Amino acid sequence: MVDPFALNDLLAKHGQEHLLAELATLGAEQRERYLAQLASIDWAELSHAAAPLPAGEVGASRVITRSERQARAATLRAAGEAAYGAGRAAVLMVAGGQGTRLGSSAPKGCFPIAPHSGKSIFQLQAEKVLSLSRRFGRQVPFLIMTSPMTDADTREFFQANGWFGLDQAQLRFFSQGTVPSIDQQGRALLRVPGMLLENPDGHGGCFTALVTSGNLARLHADGIEQIIYIQVDNILAPVDDPELLGLASLEGAEVITKVLPKAHPDEKVGHLVRVAGSDRIVEYTELTPAQTRLTSANGEPLYRWGSPAMHSWGVAFLARLAARGYQIPLHRSAKPLKAWLGGAAQDITGWKSERFIFDLIPEARTSLGLEIDRDSEFAPVKNPSLSDGKPMNDSPATAVALASRLYASWLAAAGVTIALPAEARIEISPLYAATREQFLARWDRRLERLDGDYYLEA
Ligand code: UTP
Repeated sequence: MVDPFALNDLLAKHGQEHLLAELATLGAEQRERYLAQLASIDWAELSHAAAPLPAGEVGASRVITRSERQARAATLRAAGEAAYGAGRAAVLMVAGGQGTRLGSSAPKGCFPIAPHSGKSIFQLQAEKVLSLSRRFGRQVPFLIMTSPMTDADTREFFQANGWFGLDQAQLRFFSQGTVPSIDQQGRALLRVPGMLLENPDGHGGCFTALVTSGNLARLHADGIEQIIYIQVDNILAPVDDPELLGLASLEGAEVITKVLPKAHPDEKVGHLVRVAGSDRIVEYTELTPAQTRLTSANGEPLYRWGSPAMHSWGVAFLARLAARGYQIPLHRSAKPLKAWLGGAAQDITGWKSERFIFDLIPEARTSLGLEIDRDSEFAPVKNPSLSDGKPMNDSPATAVALASRLYASWLAAAGVTIALPAEARIEISPLYAATREQFLARWDRRLERLDGDYYLEA
């Protein structure tokens, strides 16, 4: 039972005493629940938003460029294949976000996206893991981070769809934590009287959640060395990636961050750079337009490498951080919120506090960047296809078009003549081929020319 006097002192210390103003109007049960919720929050952490890391001299991170990668491809691939074959890799997909921009009330992964089959984003991601598991004859662990806002719907969706062919034992759902959403004065907001307005604590919440759910210890105990990290909303994010895994194992890299050359200096991405001796991601919001154009002594743009949020994380590295009680800090960003104010729900701009997974990077002893081909690996779904009748970037429509273009390039590489009208869409199931190599190995020359929609299933 919570001591209301001690709680009052704690809240007052952090400028949150307004939260107790209407306590007397709550029923006994609701009041107990609310007080317990208030007592469980780390108010000190919430009131001190993370200070930016010390900005020392900014230099270039070590990035394996596409030409270096090509030169080392055979060795990297062999090491990666061996690591998959020996069961040393797991896949982690973060899917706890609220998908506010997309505007669907269901988790983003439930969105039916594939142009011909109508498969959901979850199905596409799950089938990639299934394809990988089949290729190596072992059940690659597939960890899915949800949040209290997406957990029940996500599990039900997987169950209702027969786990998309995966074995239930390889699927490990775990939920991230939440933090109170606050107003611009730092005061916690209510959703309704007696209930805080909360948001999931960011993709970085997956570090703490991996630890507290016991999943990190289990991976360690099972001999998993690398976690391949993807976000649910990049439909082209590969999980069968021997070059990534091979690089991690040959270089003993505690983290690898996939990077791509920015399309233009003002592209809104985080940048992989080296600051004060360690790699880190510098967000575009932290830079002025002049800074994004700075060059190093050899004339290369300093903020050249954008991060599409794909990594491999060393399990031993994460376990080391967990053992020392490391916690990823919270960052605040302004967001539209619906909060209970003056006796009614109101739309306001407030702050969400979130942890960013890439804040782990400066903690790594060995960090590398790996250049990827944007067109092969990056098709994000953030916005609705149309807003006020206007087509949007990073939407289901653009992601499907990018995927279609990629599959057309596979067919072209196999010798098919491509003569497609702009509106034609190609879909290749991950169960037919999840990578270009698999496609080229499997393609049976059933077509010589393609001039319209095409769908290839296993
Ligand atoms: P975004 O930052 O794009 O957020 O998440 P979002 O929730 O998908 O969409 P908006 O901003 O509300 O429109 C990038 C990835 O990180 C995951 C998301 O599920 C997505 O895969 N994420 C984000 C979490 O898992 N938890 C979070 O708290 C936030």
